[in-house]
Amino acid sequence: MTSAPIDTTTTAPVAIVGAGPAGLMLAHRLGRVGIECVNIDIRTREEIETTHRAGIIEAVAAQDLVDTGVSDRILRDGHEHPGVDLRFGGQSHRIDFQEHVGASVWLYPQTDVFIDLADARARDGGTVHFGVTDTEVGDVITEQPYMRFTAADGARHEVRAQFLVGADGSRSVCRDLVPEGERTQYFREYPFAWFGFMTQAPQSAPELVYTHSPHGFALLSQRTDTVQRMYFQCDPEESVDAWSDERIWEKMQQIVAGPDGFTCQEGPVLEKTVLRFRSFVQQPMRYGTLLLAGDAAHTVPPTGARGLNLALHDVKVLAGVLQRAVGSEGESALADYEPGALERVWRAQNFSYWMTQMLHAAPGASDFDLRRQMGELDNVVATRAGRTYLAEQYTGWPSDER
Ligand code: PHB
Repeated sequence: MTSAPIDTTTTAPVAIVGAGPAGLMLAHRLGRVGIECVNIDIRTREEIETTHRAGIIEAVAAQDLVDTGVSDRILRDGHEHPGVDLRFGGQSHRIDFQEHVGASVWLYPQTDVFIDLADARARDGGTVHFGVTDTEVGDVITEQPYMRFTAADGARHEVRAQFLVGADGSRSVCRDLVPEGERTQYFREYPFAWFGFMTQAPQSAPELVYTHSPHGFALLSQRTDTVQRMYFQCDPEESVDAWSDERIWEKMQQIVAGPDGFTCQEGPVLEKTVLRFRSFVQQPMRYGTLLLAGDAAHTVPPTGARGLNLALHDVKVLAGVLQRAVGSEGESALADYEPGALERVWRAQNFSYWMTQMLHAAPGASDFDLRRQMGELDNVVATRAGRTYLAEQYTGWPSDER
């Protein structure tokens, strides 16, 4: 809490805490229908741009970036992936998305989605404050919630809004505005994490390779022809300093090895991070005039690449609801947000959990556990129903299915 005097007080229909992809895409969608928002973020633009995140975008979300006028860069710099490899028992099995569900995903890093959105907001004259401090939010059960912050230039601002959106990520302060007695938090921790790194190396495979092995999980992903993104399973307490390039490649080769002779293309390791993960949902996603979107409301483990896609789906629903609420319908329109967003949230929770438990060797797993997992993987790749299920979940669900 700060008692510093307010230098400027402004009003805006919608105040958004968070200027990551969810917060910026919401502001962009609302800006297109003439509703001006103010976004704030405690991170600087540079910090967000340089924090590596997942890189898979559903075709629908990719098309939305183009169709809503954010940018068509994804079509030029992104890569269409019409399938994915599941590797287990030392062999790769391709799931062809096009064959099974007529869809693809796009490999386009989240940092690029962010850059496109931040550029679009700047181009369109949107108000976005990066690097703010001393954020305060409140009065969310009134018709005039507020957001106060100290901007990067030291000026203290207050924004009085009609609606306040918490798009402030997995360490959200906004979700704590919902009193304990009025919210339920559902979560699950996992006894493993991912060791993520970039490497200056040629591609090992043209599509993503999700690998199960008795030595743990590995994911081979790509960035460019010469830079790749990879992950292997590690202990949540693992220290990156304990891993030399040599040790990393020994581990990766051990995980992917098999009778087909597949190997990872090696190169210098550029950046290393341990990514802990968990599954989390807070309900309700709306409380008074506060609405939660993206990671603030729910987090998924990265195994199914659902996180960003889910956040973009939330704000697609939310933009429509807020447009009605700011217009003639008022606050009553907000009741439609959670029903429109939550079904996909729990489907994605299930898919991310399912992929995670199927592909990782839990510490202390028995031979039975590992062989049962291989039976499960075999059911996925060897049956049309299994392949179609994975393809449909991974590429996102068609929106007109019901
Ligand atoms: C990535 O490219 O960083 C990536 C892709 C798919 C995932 C997770 C991360 O499931």
